[in-house]
Amino acid sequence: MPSTATAEAGPERLAQATELRRRTLAWGRAGETVGLVPTMGALHAGHLALVRAARRQCARVVVSIFVNPLQFGEGEDYRRYPRDLSGDLARLGAEGVDACYCPAPEAMYPEGFATRVAVSGMARLGEVAARPGHFEGVATVVTKLFAATGPCRAYFGEKDAQQVALVQRLARDLDLGVEVVVLPVVRDPDGLALSSRNRLLSAAGRRSALCLWRALAAAREAFASGARSAPRLARVAAAVVQQEPGAELDYAAVVDAADLSRAQRAEPGSRLLLAARVEGVRLIDTGLLRPEPGGQG
Ligand code: PAJ
Repeated sequence: MPSTATAEAGPERLAQATELRRRTLAWGRAGETVGLVPTMGALHAGHLALVRAARRQCARVVVSIFVNPLQFGEGEDYRRYPRDLSGDLARLGAEGVDACYCPAPEAMYPEGFATRVAVSGMARLGEVAARPGHFEGVATVVTKLFAATGPCRAYFGEKDAQQVALVQRLARDLDLGVEVVVLPVVRDPDGLALSSRNRLLSAAGRRSALCLWRALAAAREAFASGARSAPRLARVAAAVVQQEPGAELDYAAVVDAADLSRAQRAEPGSRLLLAARVEGVRLIDTGLLRPEPGGQG
């Protein structure tokens, strides 16, 4: 089945899992590999980096756009979450994406939907502790997206480091046969990690949000100067956010590279996890601690 994707027409838009499955099964029968990039839309250059990696590695690329109600807690920003479907479709057309899966919430979760996917054993810190139920919502929707697409590879950003760990565990535990490909954090030139939620910030809020990048840089610098106490490094980062009047710290934690559990002693490869609220918008960031300061990721 040839792709109808062109820069002008945009990718083929599919709203039903059965339609998507029919399309990807036909590609599979033709010997074509399929890459999936799951997103919640309001696409930015971080998403597009995932799309480009998929484009390079797979014959066919599916991007899903679905703001998943199941992963938003009560009082969180489900309604306020940025949505820009026509802009997104234009961007995906320009990237040569074959299909865009954008189901309605009622199609994803029809009346009577009663199944949840839960990954146990995640360290109770960072997003796990801050957003109860969030990762059950992510695991459930990612399982559904994998089932509807049947991809060879799926592309995720390291920015959501705990989400990556969750999806890797899920793919292994359920024998989903999907290779999980992880790409580094894409930042604006001044260091701000790209996020769909950045669209909700004023210019002043955006400047405040840069404290996350400064916090990461400060922790890296302390690490490069020999500091190895993980709680102390977390406090260094926390202090930078707390000094920013426009930001409210949610957490700063230094975790082990392998299982993202709380570290006592930081090693090269340990990771800083950060979350803060700016103008009521919750932002997260992360990066590895390295022997030398600075650098991306
Ligand atoms: P969303 O926040 O739209 O992110 C989609 C993918 O883009 C995720 O894998 C995320 O880690 C990646 N991403 C976001 N910002 C990035 C950046 N600055 N650099 C690199 N990659 C970045 O994450 C979700 O949606 C949802 O939880 C989802 C997996 C789609 C399930 O609903």
